[in-house]
Amino acid sequence: MNAPYSNDLKQSIRTIPDYPKPGILFRDITTLLGDARAFRRAVDELVQPVAGTKIDKVAGIEARGFILGGAVAHQLSAGFVPIRKKGKLPHKTASIAYSLEYGVDEMEVHSDAIHAGERVIIIDDLIATGGTAEGAVKLLKSIGANVVAACFVIDLPDLGGAKKIEALGVPVRTLMTFD
Ligand code: PRP
Ligand code: ADE
Repeated sequence: MNAPYSNDLKQSIRTIPDYPKPGILFRDITTLLGDARAFRRAVDELVQPVAGTKIDKVAGIEARGFILGGAVAHQLSAGFVPIRKKGKLPHKTASIAYSLEYGVDEMEVHSDAIHAGERVIIIDDLIATGGTAEGAVKLLKSIGANVVAACFVIDLPDLGGAKKIEALGVPVRTLMTFD
């Protein structure tokens, strides 16, 4: 489900060495977001595999998934559902612990955010180990979602996240890879 990435879109990503820790090459999407053509193109390419199919809700993962997910939801005429870090949502929530590269965290969604069987896509900026996206898939399924795809601008394939999500039966769409 992955498109060959376009060079110009990839060139709109800024790489910051040793952020937030020594040895990490941080892939910064703020430069893509600030470039009107690149932002539009990224949203169009994220939407493309599900365009023409019925999508009820777009679930965006805090924080960068909110920016892209809101734009994708608008384009698909779908609702938007925020998946937030623990303690940020005001109403009754479902929650799940998930693994990060170092340690665990917890994410939440409003329990009534999805009607049973609704077709949902997950949007985030980047998939690395896949721990965050795996948590999001399981959380959404626990409140009745039919998760039909998970879409990311950037894949770090060496960390295996996309394969982990495909193994859950959710097709993954990414626009570019960084080794
Ligand atoms: C980043 C990114 C993804 C996640 C990917 O978010 O936006 O959500 O890491 O990593 P994984 O595939 O190994 O789980 P981060 O946890 O840095 O949160 P933030 O967007 O709030 O900064
Ligand atoms: N999240 C996890 N790994 C990342 C990276 N290398 N760049 C940006 N966000 C990330």
